[in-house]
Amino acid sequence: MQTVLVTGGVGFIGSNFILKARKEQWANIINLDKLTCACNPQTLAKLQDDAGYHFVQGDIGNAELVRDLLERYQPSAVINFAAESHVDRSILNPQDFIQTNVLGAFQLLEASKQYWERLSAQQRESFRFLHVSTDEVYGSLSPTDSAFREDTPYAPNSPYAASKAGSDHLVRAYFHTYGLPTLITNCSNNYGPYQFPEKLIPLIILNALQGRSLPIYGDGQNIRDWLYVTDHCEALYLILQSSRIGETYNIGGNNEQTNLTVVEKICAILDELVPTNDRYSSLITFVSDRLGHDRRYAVDCSKINRELGWQPNENFDSGLLKTIQWYLSHPIWVQQVQSGAYQTWIQQNYGDKVTVLSR
Ligand code: NAD
Ligand code: TYD
Repeated sequence: MQTVLVTGGVGFIGSNFILKARKEQWANIINLDKLTCACNPQTLAKLQDDAGYHFVQGDIGNAELVRDLLERYQPSAVINFAAESHVDRSILNPQDFIQTNVLGAFQLLEASKQYWERLSAQQRESFRFLHVSTDEVYGSLSPTDSAFREDTPYAPNSPYAASKAGSDHLVRAYFHTYGLPTLITNCSNNYGPYQFPEKLIPLIILNALQGRSLPIYGDGQNIRDWLYVTDHCEALYLILQSSRIGETYNIGGNNEQTNLTVVEKICAILDELVPTNDRYSSLITFVSDRLGHDRRYAVDCSKINRELGWQPNENFDSGLLKTIQWYLSHPIWVQQVQSGAYQTWIQQNYGDKVTVLSR
């Protein structure tokens, strides 16, 4: 079985990918993760006796460590999930985003190139560097604009999106200049198990269950396209197996929703599953908007559908129900992530947000 170096594999999407990769025997995995405060190492505890899984705590920006791991484990692919990934955090502290998403990605690319150059001709041919990126690099759409395509010009608006755009450009340049066999994916908003509750869907689920207010930025009419996380993981595996090098693929759920609709759907499911005296929607609170808040994202994923036959399996209602059931049945995981550092973040991000209107 092939060995893959996964970076950032303790985070939300990476951990879902690793759990699936081990379950389906896609690959042996070396997982390099710095363990920033936005992840929970317990997510992968069930793999601790799995001989096909090895965890290393470290930074993708540590060139010596990455070189050493590549030489020691001889992977046939690198999948880069490692990133600072939260727009709100990037607004409060952009420096970490440049450090990991741009400079860290550069060090990872450079070490991968040096490793790849020393492989045999056959191994060089099959090696892949897959960089996992976001639809946010394309900027914001108006209600009538057509969805992002792979040739939509980059126009990132947040420090997060700009840092991801920077790394995408470096990956592209390493293919064009050195021939490193790279792939880039630009995916829409993911949701599902193991997502840290600083992102909209898990934050709303857990706030509702704990009787806290449900903060909606601005007028709640911002639109995101939502994809269930395992659909994303399957797309990544397919791309790794079958696509042409140097390609970029958009991945999305064909599922545009306003934030207010997402929150109302969560409330309606919770009303059924965990009824209380009052409806959960009474906790909805409109708060002051995120700075530079992108209005709408939408992804045209006809290329991956046409070339690789991929399409999402989960629809939003079934995916949301599964996600809520997962958070309800994993109270220990929830307790672990809502610790001291999390409380500090909640205070920092929401402490100075003004309530505009409570329902
Ligand atoms: P996440 O924040 O849950 O996980 C990121 C992981 O990277 C964490 O485990 C963290 O410890 C690790 N990490 C951070 N800095 C590191 C460093 N310097 N060295 C090694 N590890 C480091 O993020 P996620 O939601 O799982 O996103 C994974 C990737 O997918 C990111 O690159 C993100 O930009 C991209 N993406 C995310 C979404 C989404 O909706 N979550 C959508 C599209 C693309
Ligand atoms: P988020 O989950 O942070 O993802 P992204 O910013 O990468 O799209 O936010 C999703 C949407 O939800 C975004 O438009 C901002 C909004 N949002 C709120 O309205 N309230 C919140 O408390 C959070 C975290 C997000």
